[in-house]
Amino acid sequence: MSSRGIFITFEGIDGAGKSTHIDALADALRVAGRAVTRTREPGGTPLAEQIRALVLHQDMDALTEALLMFAARRDHIGQLIAPALARGEAVICDRFTDATFAYQGGGRGFDWGALSLLERLAQTLPDAEMLQPDLTLWFDLPAAVAAARLAGARTPDKFEAQPVAFFEAVRGGYARRLSADLARFVRIDAGQSREAVWADVRCAVQDRGWL
Ligand code: TMP
Repeated sequence: MSSRGIFITFEGIDGAGKSTHIDALADALRVAGRAVTRTREPGGTPLAEQIRALVLHQDMDALTEALLMFAARRDHIGQLIAPALARGEAVICDRFTDATFAYQGGGRGFDWGALSLLERLAQTLPDAEMLQPDLTLWFDLPAAVAAARLAGARTPDKFEAQPVAFFEAVRGGYARRLSADLARFVRIDAGQSREAVWADVRCAVQDRGWL
């Protein structure tokens, strides 16, 4: 996977406001002449979308949840992400493995070391190194602020229905992932105005020479 495209992931607790910026970045990269694949997790392939419907709406223990997230991811990488990167495209993914560490690790309290093992298994393809994003934009926001933004917005799924304390623990999981890989992560202050957030997103991508 040496002459591959670029792999950018967006992360953050529910209500952090990633979506409009994902669309805007996809548009900006296309205007800059890049082919863009925009996708999401859990999901992104027919199999992974079926898994998504299960994990977002069925009760299950943390191990089952983590295994399903990685099963969906394995299919997503093999069927969609790796082929797009091999074609030289920019892949923008709404959530990836950092979400599993944050939600199942930080939020549910599932073992961090076990998640690291699953990460290595799921993200290593034949004849390739372990796939990791080239850039991860973490939209950081206090959980209480995100909850106020989400209130009444739509019928909550299993995760969105969790209390503020769960999302503070998820936030702690993201912070832990960031501190372990400062080169890959950029923390975006998601409490700023939409324009200021977009300026930070654009700047992070420009800094890497991709825009
Ligand atoms: P969303 O796509 O609407 O953000 O919903 C996905 C939900 O799934 C969100 O609450 C975060 C959660 N999630 C996990 O718990 N673990 C994961 O690995 C991923 C990718 C998402």
